[in-house]
Amino acid sequence: MTILVTGGSGFIGSNFILYWMKKYPADEVINLDKLTYAGNPENLKSVENEKNYKFVRGDICNRELVDKLMKDADIVCHFAAESHVDRSIKKPSAFMETNIIGTHVLLESALKNKVKKFHHISTDEVFGSLELDDKSKFSEETAYNPRSPYAASKAASDHLVRTYFHTYGLPITITNCSNNFGPFQYPEKLIPLVVTNLLEGKKVPVYGDGQNIRDWLYVEDHCKAIDLVLHEGQIGETYCVGGLTCDMSNLGIVKKILRILGKDESFITFVKDRPGHDRKYAVDWSKIKNELGWEPVADFDILLEKTVNWYQKNEDWWKRLKSETFQKYYKEQYSDI
Ligand code: NAD
Ligand code: TYD
Repeated sequence: MTILVTGGSGFIGSNFILYWMKKYPADEVINLDKLTYAGNPENLKSVENEKNYKFVRGDICNRELVDKLMKDADIVCHFAAESHVDRSIKKPSAFMETNIIGTHVLLESALKNKVKKFHHISTDEVFGSLELDDKSKFSEETAYNPRSPYAASKAASDHLVRTYFHTYGLPITITNCSNNFGPFQYPEKLIPLVVTNLLEGKKVPVYGDGQNIRDWLYVEDHCKAIDLVLHEGQIGETYCVGGLTCDMSNLGIVKKILRILGKDESFITFVKDRPGHDRKYAVDWSKIKNELGWEPVADFDILLEKTVNWYQKNEDWWKRLKSETFQKYYKEQYSDI
């Protein structure tokens, strides 16, 4: 079987390719990735010379290229996206191009080439924001209410994917997952930013009052969920995927990382809040548990420590990413530090 993975050189996509190639060594994997600032071929160094792995540098908006690759694909696993909320606030247009137009190009081509399955990776951010004291959780039934350009572009892509199922019968599935963490995450996102800043002896920026809550999912648990949905998920269905954290604030996470690295709280700097900052996400993953038997495996604290250790051991990997271009981004984003 041939699986076409889009955005396979990014954080979750590369973890997924490594997971898939280990578990299904007979499959052919094609990775279509534009290598934006977030794409990093180094993540896949361990498989780049395997005969059943092919990397194609290209844009999912490129119809000709997508059509050519789609001809060989049995299934598609679509990760490629602009993924960082703060960048979507500063420059939304790339998000509309890749996340909406790019997804549409893939859908058209998948339909034309009669792929057996099109799996779309989405986010819990399409559901909007909960209040801090709200005990409810996002589920497959929650109405969409995106509040950032990133979330809106992902919501639009989800709607398009469902449209291609209902209108044209394309065999799709969707997962809406919560915040992932683990190895190979670009150091603009909260956990790798905090860990690598601390390893460099720098302060860590916390937006607003630090009380915002996210639902944290270990990336390998996420890969297992996608695997299950690809093999056993019902066509046309959506599955929410979340982690084992319960109402954990950003500040709480930063303090845990400080403890793991033996640093004190003087490293915390409160900076101006993100515009429209969603207060809380929480995901109800009972559908995927009840229907497919998936659940996250390990305790957040253990996985956080494992993740911190990975960044400690892989300094070369992230130091190269925190280069000149990253510094320019950092200065603009955190001008008040
Ligand atoms: P990432 O930013 O680390 O990687 C995105 C990858 O897509 C990069 O390799 C990039 O080069 C590639 N890409 C971007 N534009 C492209 C284009 N036009 N054509 C081809 N390739 C392109 O993102 P991630 O964190 O790995 O997220 C993967 C998917 O999961 C995204 O769809 C994202 O919306 C979703 N998601 C992520 C999280 C999270 O916590 N990281 C949570 C929920 C959902
Ligand atoms: P992030 O990793 O950007 O993921 P998302 O915005 O998709 O949830 O941010 C996670 C949370 O951490 C979010 O509430 C914003 C906050 N945050 C900070 O407080 N400081 C930072 O420097 C970053 C990047 C995020």
